[in-house]
Amino acid sequence: MNYTLLLHNILRWAVLLLGIWVVISAASAILSKNEYKKSDNKISLFFMISCDIQLSLGLILYFTGMWFEKVKIGMGEVMKDPTERYFAVEHALMMIIAWLLVHIGRSMVKRANNDALKYKRTLIYFGTALLIILLMIPWPFRPEGIARQLFPQF
Ligand code: HEM
Repeated sequence: MNYTLLLHNILRWAVLLLGIWVVISAASAILSKNEYKKSDNKISLFFMISCDIQLSLGLILYFTGMWFEKVKIGMGEVMKDPTERYFAVEHALMMIIAWLLVHIGRSMVKRANNDALKYKRTLIYFGTALLIILLMIPWPFRPEGIARQLFPQF
């Protein structure tokens, strides 16, 4: 059993729940013109930490599994095969972009000088990151080869 893959599979739910929580609470705070609270900062911090752990697990899977081996053998071949291209290039690259957006977003929110701007930046940076994550998860309805289970199989 590959425990790194198992954790990477389960942790996706924490990433998604925290991301949805951050985005929905920012959207409702904008509508009701709430003040930026300590709890808002805390949820976005937990979202960032979950993304950091997920990235670390992903990098371990990438460099210890077959995907990086395939890249070393030849990028041309990787790009021709949809499954290899997905895991060796698209999933990894897009998730790193989402992770960067979360980190840049946290510092942009910190630097914003009023509460409305903090919520607006939360919505833009974290919302975009969440969208990328949702689109790049290998959901069971993706084509054969890419599709993975919603939960680990024991
Ligand atoms: C928020 C970020 C991420 C999420 C939500 C996510 C989610 C997932 C999920 C659900 C799977 C399927 C797991 C399974 O087969 O049970 C997966 C597979 C994989 N992920 Fe990620 N991932 C993220 C980031 C990354 C990053 C940054 C990398 C690499 C740099 C990466 C590398 C991989 C690899 C290599 C696999 C395939 C493992 C295999 O079947 O051999 N992931 N990811």
